[in-house]
Amino acid sequence: MSSLTKKEMEVLSSPSFEEIINQQLQNPARRGLLKGGAGVATLGFMGLSNLVMDDALANQGFATRRVGFESTALSTADAVTVAEGYQFEVLYKLGDPIAKGIANYANDGTDGLSDPFEFEFRAGDHHDGMYFFGLGANGKWDEKASDRGLLCINHEAITPLFLHPNGPSASPRNPVEVIKEMHLHGVSVIEVSRNKDGRYSVVQDSKFNRRITTLTPMEIKGPVRGSDFAKTRFSPDGTLTRGTINNCASGYTPWGTYLTCEENWNGYFRNQNSGYAGIPANDAASHRRYGISDNASGRELWATANEAGYTNEIFSRWNVKPASAEATRAAGASDYRNAPFTFGYNVEIDPFNPDSTPRKRTAMGRFAHEGAWVGPVKQGEPVVFYMGCDSRFEYIYKFVSDAKWDKRDINGGLAVGDKYLDKGTLYVAKFNEDFSGEWLRLADVAQGTEITPRRPGSLALAGAKSYMVEGQLDQYVNTRILADFIGGTPMDRPEWGAVNPKNGDVYMTLTNNTSRTDINTLNAANPRAYRDNEASASSSYGNVNGHIIRWKEAAKNPAATQFIWDIYLFGAETDDLNKPSVNVSGLTPDNFLSSPDGLWFSEKTGILYVQTDDGAFTDTTNCMLLAVVPGEVGDGKLVNITNTSRDGLNTKTVTTRVGNPGVVRRLLVGPKDSEITGITESWDGKALFVNIQHPGEETPNLQSLTSSWPYPLGNNQFGNPGGGTTPSAASRPRSATIVITKKNGGIIGL
Ligand code: FEO
Ligand code: CA
Ligand code: CA
Repeated sequence: MSSLTKKEMEVLSSPSFEEIINQQLQNPARRGLLKGGAGVATLGFMGLSNLVMDDALANQGFATRRVGFESTALSTADAVTVAEGYQFEVLYKLGDPIAKGIANYANDGTDGLSDPFEFEFRAGDHHDGMYFFGLGANGKWDEKASDRGLLCINHEAITPLFLHPNGPSASPRNPVEVIKEMHLHGVSVIEVSRNKDGRYSVVQDSKFNRRITTLTPMEIKGPVRGSDFAKTRFSPDGTLTRGTINNCASGYTPWGTYLTCEENWNGYFRNQNSGYAGIPANDAASHRRYGISDNASGRELWATANEAGYTNEIFSRWNVKPASAEATRAAGASDYRNAPFTFGYNVEIDPFNPDSTPRKRTAMGRFAHEGAWVGPVKQGEPVVFYMGCDSRFEYIYKFVSDAKWDKRDINGGLAVGDKYLDKGTLYVAKFNEDFSGEWLRLADVAQGTEITPRRPGSLALAGAKSYMVEGQLDQYVNTRILADFIGGTPMDRPEWGAVNPKNGDVYMTLTNNTSRTDINTLNAANPRAYRDNEASASSSYGNVNGHIIRWKEAAKNPAATQFIWDIYLFGAETDDLNKPSVNVSGLTPDNFLSSPDGLWFSEKTGILYVQTDDGAFTDTTNCMLLAVVPGEVGDGKLVNITNTSRDGLNTKTVTTRVGNPGVVRRLLVGPKDSEITGITESWDGKALFVNIQHPGEETPNLQSLTSSWPYPLGNNQFGNPGGGTTPSAASRPRSATIVITKKNGGIIGL
C-alpha cells in the first residue's frame, strides 16, 4: 500500500460504495437484486478499481488527469475564442453548396426563391450532433482514416428571420418559404478531406454528399412497423414515413452507421381539433403526455401553407386533424392523425450508401430522443445504447439488443442495423437515494394496466383521461407513459451521454430544470434548487445551472440491470463562487460553466469534452466548450446540499455524492447567442470538429443583428464594412461547423 498516491488513499478511505452496497445486502428485500453481479465483484468493482484502471490507462497511452492548455477567458464578444496554442477554421456553414453547380449562398434571403428544392443540395441550419466516419480507399468505413472522412451533421432547427428576404411570412405561410425551411432541417452527409497543411475542406462534388430532410422517405422498422399506429395517407400499410425532424444529438453504431435522434418533433404538428376529437382516448392521452397540445398551432406553421385538405401533402401532413369521423387508428390510413406516432425515434442512416433509405428504429422507444450512445462493445455480448429524453422531469433509458455482437458485421450497413436495433429490451433508469440504481424493464408493464400520465414538463398528473395499456407495442410508442408507471426517476432534462473508453462509466448531462420549483421533489440524483443571482434572471429558480450524472454498471457489464452512480460535476456561475450549496464542485473562474449539454469522450486522449447551451450565465459569458479528465464513479465525497424554497421560507437538505472534478479547463467560448454543440474528432486526434449553433438567435429584427458570426460584426460576408446586398449593414449570422487544431499540429488536449 505504500506505493499508493495521496489521492488513491483518499479513494480507499472515503465512505465507499462497497459499504453502501454491503448495507443493502443485509436488506432481505434487496438481496436478490444485488447478489451475483455487483455483490461478487464488489471489492474490485467499487473500491480498488481506480488503481487497476490507472494501470490500464498507462498501457493504453491515455493522458492521466491532465489537460494540456490553460483556460481561455469568459467572453461576451461576437467571436469564437480558443485557448492559447489553438486555432480554428470555419468548415461548413448554413446554405453552403454540397453539389456541383450550386451557387455560393447569398445569405440575404434570396437563395432558393426561384427553386426552393435546390436546398436539397445546401447545408441545413442549426448544426447539432455529428460524427466523423473515416473514409477508406475502398469507399467503406475505416475507423483509422483521418485524411478523408464522411461527416454526418444534424440540423436541428432554423432561425426563420435569417432565411427569407424580410423574415418569415405570417399564417398562411408562403409555400416557397416552407419548402426551404423543411429542407433546412434534417441531416447532412458530407465528404471532407485534409490537405498537406492539415486543413479540412468539404469535397463539394463527392458522390457521398447527401441531405436528408423532412421530405426524405424513411422505412419504419422494428415492432411499430405495419401496426395501426404507423398508418398514414402516405403509407396506408404503416411501413414508411416521410422525413426526420428536430434532430438533436446523435450516435454511431459499431458497424459504421449514424443514428440521428428526433427530439422536439411534437411541436411541429398542428392540432386545431378542440378536445382531441375523432381519435381513440388512448391517443388523446398520449398526445397530451408528449406535448401535442389541444389546439396546437404548430411550430413554423407549415400546415398553414395548405390548410384546407390534401392537395399538397407535404404541408398538410403536419396537420393531425382527422379527416373522417371514424375515431380509430386504422382510419388514419386516409389522413395524418397518426403522423405523430411516426416521429420521436432514432433514425439509422448509412452514410456510405447514399442511395439507402434511412430506417426509424422503433424498438429503441419513442420520446424526445436527445441522442444514442453505444456502450462498450464485446464480441458475443449484446450491443447497448444509452439514451435520454430531453425534457424537464423526463427519463434516462437503455436499449439492450437481443443479438450478440459479431465483429464481422462491421460495414454491413442497414441490414446489420436490422439485426441489432429491431429487437431488444428497453429499460428506464431509477436512481436510488443510496447511490445504487436499477434498470426497469418497460415490457413488465402488463396489458390492461391503467396509467394516468404526467403533464409534459411537470410532475403533475395530466388530470384527464387515463391510458390503458394495450399490449407489448405500447412500450415502443408510448414509452414515456410506461416509464411514468414503472417508476423511472424524473430527471433535470437529460441531454448528451458519453461512455468513458477507459472504464465504461456512463456520463449524462442534466442541463437544467427551472420547473423544479418545489424543494420537496428534490432527490439525491436531482439535488439542487436555488435562485439565480443577477437581476435579469430574477424569476429564475430551480436547478438553474445543471449537473452531470454518471453511473457504473454492475460488474462493468453494460447489459446489467443494476448500477451505482454519483454526480460528476455541478454547474455554477462566477457569483456563486462562495456558495457551497450552489458551487458544489468548487468551480473557479477558470472553469465556471452553466447548462452542460454536449458531452463527448475522445477515444484518442480519454479527455471528456463538455459543451454548454445556456441562458442563465449568458449575462457574463457566451456558451463554451470545456475539457476534463474525470476519474470514476465513487472517487468523490458525500455532500449535504441545503436548498432554500422558492418563497424563501423553508429549507431542505439533500445528501448526495459528488465526484472529484479533476482538471476542468475551458477550450473555447462561442459568439453571441450561440449554443456550442456537436463534437467529433479525426482518428489521429489532431482535429476537433465542433458546431456553433444559432449565433444571433436573439436578434429582434434584421436591422439589429446581435451577431454576424462568422463575419466580423459590422462587416458583410465579403469583408466590406457596412455594405453588401443584405438589408442590414452586417452579414446575417450562420450556424456552422468549425475545425479546431493545435497551432503546432499536435493532438488536441495534450
Ligand atoms: Fe436539442 Fe436537447 O437539445
Ligand atoms: Ca442538445
Ligand atoms: Ca445567471
